[in-house]
Amino acid sequence: MADTNGMKVAKDYFLEVPFKNQNGFYVKGAENLGWGMKKRLSNIFNSESGNTVMFAFDHGYFMGSVSGLERLDLIVPKVVNYVDALMATRGALRTCVLPDNKKATVLRVTSGSSVLDDDLSREVVAVDIDDSIRMNADCLAVQVFIGSEGQKESLDNLSKVVNKALKYDIPVMGVVAVGKNMERTSKYFKLATRMIAELGANIIKTYYCDELEEIVAACPVPIVIAGGKKLPENEALTLAYKSIKAGAKGVDMGRNIFQSNYPDIMARAVSLIVHKGYTDEEAYSFYLKETGE
Ligand code: R5P
Repeated sequence: MADTNGMKVAKDYFLEVPFKNQNGFYVKGAENLGWGMKKRLSNIFNSESGNTVMFAFDHGYFMGSVSGLERLDLIVPKVVNYVDALMATRGALRTCVLPDNKKATVLRVTSGSSVLDDDLSREVVAVDIDDSIRMNADCLAVQVFIGSEGQKESLDNLSKVVNKALKYDIPVMGVVAVGKNMERTSKYFKLATRMIAELGANIIKTYYCDELEEIVAACPVPIVIAGGKKLPENEALTLAYKSIKAGAKGVDMGRNIFQSNYPDIMARAVSLIVHKGYTDEEAYSFYLKETGE
C-alpha cells in the first residue's frame, strides 16, 4: 500500500478532454466489456441521449413504508412509462411490477439494517446471483459505506457481487451511502466514486455536490445522481439540470418523483432534461403547464 504521507493533491482533471477509451460503445468504461454487459447497459442508458432516468423505489428495504410508496402497486404503473429503469428490491419487483414491462431493472442486492439502528452501515449480500439471473436483472445495486463502521463489509459485498456478476455479464451499480456521521463534501464523493469504480462497479450512484465535473472526469464509469430528500419541484429539476450539465449520465430519483403531487408529470419533466436537453426552467414550465399549478 502506498505511503499516503506527503501525497500531492489531485488537480489535473483535463475537463475539456473527452474520455479516451470510448470509440465503439456509448456507455463510459464499457468499451472492453462483453456483449451481455453492453446489452444490459444499453437497456439502462438510452442510446440517443446516452443518459438514463432511473426511478428509485427501494426505500422500503430499510425504511418500510414511506410516504408516496405506501402502495407500490399503484405508484409504479403511474410512473413506469416515463423512466428508463426501475431500481427496487426483489420483493417489490416480484409483487408490484408486471413482468411484461420493458424497462430495465436495477435490483438492490444488499441489506442488513433498518431505520431502528444507529448505524446503518452493516450490510450483507442478500440476493444471490442465481435469483438475480432468474429475475433477469439488468444491474445489481450494492450500497457502499466508505469511511463508516461497515466500510470493510460493504467493500467486501461490492467485490463479491462484482466477481459473480462479471461471470454472467451483469453490470453492478455501486451506491455511495451518506449517513449521519458521513461527510457530504466533494472531497468525500471524489474518494468514494473513484474507489467504487476501481473495485469494478459499472455505474456509480452518488449525490450532487460542488466540483461534480471533476468527480465525473476522474470516474471511468457513468455517474448517476440521487434525488435525495423531497424538494419543491423547481428545485428538484434544477438539481437534475445541474447534474447533467456537470456530466452526470442521468439521475436515480425517488422521493422527488413519488412524493410529488404529480409523480408521472414530474418523471416526464425530469426526462426532458435528461434526454432532450431541456433547461430546468423549460422543464418546470412543462410541469406547470401539464399540472395546471
Ligand atoms: C437509498 O439508499 C436508496 O438507494 C434510494 O434509492 C436512494 O436514496 C434514491 O432515492 P431518493 O431520490 O429518494 O434519494
